[in-house]
Amino acid sequence: MPTLETTVDGLKLPNPFVIGSGPPGTNMKVIQRAFKEGWGAVIAKTVSLDASKVVNVGPRYAKLKAADGKEVIGWENIELISDRPFDKWLEEFKQCKDAYPEGVLIASVMEEYNQDAWCEMIERCQDAGVDGFELNFSCPHGLPERKMGAAMGQDPEILEEVCGWVNAVSKLPVWAKMTPNVTHIEEPGRAALKAGCEGLSAINTIRSVMGVDLETLRPEPTVEGYTTPGGYSSKAVKPIALRMVMELATMIRAEFPGRSLSAIGGVETGRDAAQFILLGGDTVQVCTGVMKFGYPMVRRLCDELLEFMDSKGFDTLDDFKGHSLQYFTTHAELVRMQTERKARQAAEKAAAESAGETEMVSADGDWDGDDFVKQSDGLARN
Ligand SMILES: Cc1cc2nc3c(=O)[nH]c(=O)nc-3n(C[C@H](O)[C@H](O)[C@H](O)COP(=O)(O)O)c2cc1C
Repeated sequence: MPTLETTVDGLKLPNPFVIGSGPPGTNMKVIQRAFKEGWGAVIAKTVSLDASKVVNVGPRYAKLKAADGKEVIGWENIELISDRPFDKWLEEFKQCKDAYPEGVLIASVMEEYNQDAWCEMIERCQDAGVDGFELNFSCPHGLPERKMGAAMGQDPEILEEVCGWVNAVSKLPVWAKMTPNVTHIEEPGRAALKAGCEGLSAINTIRSVMGVDLETLRPEPTVEGYTTPGGYSSKAVKPIALRMVMELATMIRAEFPGRSLSAIGGVETGRDAAQFILLGGDTVQVCTGVMKFGYPMVRRLCDELLEFMDSKGFDTLDDFKGHSLQYFTTHAELVRMQTERKARQAAEKAAAESAGETEMVSADGDWDGDDFVKQSDGLARN
């Protein structure tokens, strides 16, 4: 019987399914609910020292539906990080760990470009008993104006410096969460790992505009008649997330073997998760999926992943982690391999013809009155 248990950066998880930072980890009630339902770990909503600067608007979500008008395939949000006071969060971190000592609780943190602020935040969360950190270098809206979030994540030099501050004071595993809103995601990823982070998480949301209402001519989500670009998530981002996870995993294996990768983006099924693990994910985060299907979806995710493992004879996640990375190459190499294969086949055909052999019938239209017996023999085993 396969097992989903896994240990990542010393954290023991019952399964690789992690609540991604956002509404599903936004206060003690929902974090405890996630543990109760069996999620492998929870990354809380991103906190900062001064929540009074965080003011959300509504509506702040917009959905993209499939042609059936029902299924949600894309989700945009213009939500900021947590608007709840830091002291309240510290209390709740403690209460969550008291209630679920085995539950792996990771604090997601974000601050301005200020060493004292980052160090204070890390030390106080650490004292509250969390198990690890995710550094949010990736929020695409609202905070970049204050040089936070994606603004930091898009600048490898600053990112390396900030990760260095954090790693100097953190006694816990640190993951740096990458923004997809860059050309080469390996560059900020490499900077975070050079600065000593245990792992990377990817991806956060993709900067987006959900649409324009053709009646009012206003872009969506419309707040007081206006909008601002937001972050895109859910099923529609999975192909982009898979590509970026593949790029980071390839870089990690070549340059920082042993560092971890938490894969995120549009996961809704155990088979989605299997694909992210095949491309190098140690864990798989789910955020919008929980907003669509609720906390109990983790049971289905586990069952589906176990079913996949069983069907392939994999006993542990390590048995297939990163397996499919070997099948990526350059386009030029695809051309070379295909040209070689076609040339080989043509040569084999020519050799068979000159030896008087008849090409094997592959479709009923290939049968020929003159070669009929030979063709019949060619399809027989002896
Ligand atoms: C409403 C909403 C709020 C989010 N808030 C945060 C946040 O506070 N911190 C963070 O690191 N990521 C945040 N995210 C990003 C998610 O953690 C995740 O990286 C992204 O949505 C892609 O994964 P998904 O398709 O499973 O949602 C948020 C996402 C959504 C949809």
